Amino acid sequence: MRFLFPMLLVVACAPSAKKGERAQAPTWHSDVQRIVDTHCTRCHQAEGTAPVDLTTRAAVEQWSDRMLERMLAGEMPPPVSEPDCRDYVGSEHLSLPADAVVAFEEWMDAGMPEGDPADSTAATIVTTELSEVDLTVQLPIPHRPFFDDTRNPNNEYRCFALEHGQDEPFFITALGPQIDAIPLVHHIVVYVDNIDDIPEHDPEEGWDCIDNMAGLDEGMIAGWAPGALPFEFPEGTGYRIEPNERIILQMHYYDGAPDQPDLRDQSGYDFRITDSVDTELIMVPYGTYNFSIPAGDPAYTYGFELELPESFELDGLEIPVPDFTIYGVFPHMHVLGSGYELTVTQEDGTEECVVRSDKYDFNNQLTYDLKEPVVLGPGDKLWWSCTWDNSATNPDQMFDPPVEIGYGERTDQEMCWAFTLGALTF
Ligand code: HEC
Repeated sequence: MRFLFPMLLVVACAPSAKKGERAQAPTWHSDVQRIVDTHCTRCHQAEGTAPVDLTTRAAVEQWSDRMLERMLAGEMPPPVSEPDCRDYVGSEHLSLPADAVVAFEEWMDAGMPEGDPADSTAATIVTTELSEVDLTVQLPIPHRPFFDDTRNPNNEYRCFALEHGQDEPFFITALGPQIDAIPLVHHIVVYVDNIDDIPEHDPEEGWDCIDNMAGLDEGMIAGWAPGALPFEFPEGTGYRIEPNERIILQMHYYDGAPDQPDLRDQSGYDFRITDSVDTELIMVPYGTYNFSIPAGDPAYTYGFELELPESFELDGLEIPVPDFTIYGVFPHMHVLGSGYELTVTQEDGTEECVVRSDKYDFNNQLTYDLKEPVVLGPGDKLWWSCTWDNSATNPDQMFDPPVEIGYGERTDQEMCWAFTLGALTF
């Protein structure tokens, strides 16, 4: 308030005055390059998943009006879980501080000065690729999506079960995608499952898995959408994989290049692995099948609370409920999803926000890597809610007129999951 009030006065009395308080306008070298590299170029680079390469000053100058518009609208970078809910690994790249937008606008108002290279505060451009890779799996041959699902035109969910080639159990400690045909790959979900559970299929062609993941959900270990950074599990932890398990890539393809009908994709996934860890990670799919979203409702919320008991009974034995330490969360709904919230209330009343957003975007789903894990113990409560926009005006609406929507695996049905990656302590 102390800052805002005099600024408003200045603007009101002298419309030609510049915003902000500094004597010198920001320059490309002093501020703007760092802002763009920190918040935009992980997607907006030559090999990136966004349409415009913003790695040069010329490109940023050319696109500046549109960049400012999209930043002011809160659309770029695409919204993520709110920074005031919790701090995540890489959060300095995920959300845009208000002063960065102000600096960008001041730079534009000043005529986009280059400034002095000696003042450069340039940041390193981050990529979605993992470093120090031990193991890579890849589609066996380049795949041309069939796009033959009439209920879901120009979209395809195809699963490939890939061999990891290890004869002994091992642990994944970090993972990141290798995206091949950028215009075709919408997002990827990584599962691990026993070969006995995987449906029969031609390994080169994979299988259509839009309806067919239910049994495999528990083996889901990570999700990737454009711009997501590689996921590194906390030091000393890892996700165990057995020799008879396969790594399943659920590829969501969409036709982002209708002018290249022969474009094929041979994406893959990179892993860092090790043969032992202190703490084994598990994935708990926390969610519900019980909702029904009324037709036309622009903001329908379904939430529920789970209170962990002190103990449970097994074969006549009283077993104390172990602590569950949450390291990562992947909120997942389909195209009508618009918001979510996962909160832990500890027995003493302390509330911990784990993930929360009122701008869920199906096209920008991330696994949130918590900087400070949250420990959930006996007597604690877990609240999880999903919000959907099932109105006719939602641009992602698939029905005209809208219909009541319940749980289902298809994109035109809905889900409400918080896939939580964590560890049990007995
Ligand atoms: C997570 C990936 C990601 C990040 C980070 C990102 N963008 Fe984008 N951007 C996209 C995608 C995908 C599109 C194309 C879809 C669209 O236009 O919404 C896009 C499109 C754009 C466009 C061109 C489309 C138009 O509006 O004409 C501009 C300009 C833009 N982004 C600006 C920015 C700015 C500025 C930043 C950083 C402050 C940024 N973006 C960060 C993914 C990203």
